[in-house]
Amino acid sequence: MKPVCLVIGAGAGIGGTVAKRFAQGGYHVVLSRRSDQKGLDEMVHDIQAEGGSAVGNLINAVEPGAIENLVEETEKKAGPIAVLVFNLGAQIGTRSLASTSLKQFELGWRMACFGLFRAAQAAMPAMVQRGKGCFLVTSSTAAVRGNEGQHSHAAAMGGRRMLCQSLNAEFGRKGIHVAHIIVDGPVDAPDTLGKMLGTENFAELRKTVGARDGLLDPVQVAELWAHLVVCHIGTPPTGFVAE
Ligand SMILES: NC(=O)c1ccc[n+]([C@@H]2O[C@H](COP(=O)([O-])OP(=O)(O)OC[C@H]3O[C@@H](n4cnc5c(N)ncnc54)[C@H](OP(=O)(O)O)[C@@H]3O)[C@@H](O)[C@H]2O)c1
Repeated sequence: MKPVCLVIGAGAGIGGTVAKRFAQGGYHVVLSRRSDQKGLDEMVHDIQAEGGSAVGNLINAVEPGAIENLVEETEKKAGPIAVLVFNLGAQIGTRSLASTSLKQFELGWRMACFGLFRAAQAAMPAMVQRGKGCFLVTSSTAAVRGNEGQHSHAAAMGGRRMLCQSLNAEFGRKGIHVAHIIVDGPVDAPDTLGKMLGTENFAELRKTVGARDGLLDPVQVAELWAHLVVCHIGTPPTGFVAE
């Protein structure tokens, strides 16, 4: 039985690419995203076409019970979750204080911070029982630096960083690895940054993928997620199956 990697927030950027990398490493991957059934099916098909094992779920993670059900169903149908990738972002663009609504601010926190808390409450007990598991939490510059127009984003991601540290303090000694991974630059992510910038601006920026000071390539980024798990379980990087 393959170890299971659950990705919460799997678009064509980091989330889906990390899923693909883990499938290449021997994991059965469970992808989840909010709204794009076609995009989800394509990612699952893409992974399966190269011999990997994957399923996909559409969930709206901010709905009560959605994350908890996903974790429970994954444990039940796919098997014990070895790695949980928490990849929901909370970027809403540049907004002044006055133009950041209470609803937007709260939603940012629900996605970035409360969502992780819920995922941890749902997944940790079984991981602790097994004495092993990995939480890989994608984060951003905003987690360490507030900035103009980033009230909601920075507060939510800063909270996420602190939550990761607290989780690590409680669960590190129980064999669970919690990694807070700061991606300090824009990523070639059509479903998030692409939609925020609009087609033309994103196409222009896309010419800089992999270039110095340009867009980060999610394939390169995903390699780090793989290495973090390798460091934790201590097996070789290309096929890094834990069990
Ligand atoms: N993109 C960047 O430039 C950048 C830079 C630095 C850090 N990051 C970090 O990277 C992570 C995101 O990675 P990414 O930007 O490459 O995106 P991605 O993995 O391509 O996509 C993330 C996916 O999250 C899904 N999602 C959003 N809200 C959701 C919800 N309520 N329930 C379930 N799924 C939901 C979206 O699904 P649908 O598309 O189906 O709605 C989206 O496709 C975030 O933690 C962000 O802080 C990104």
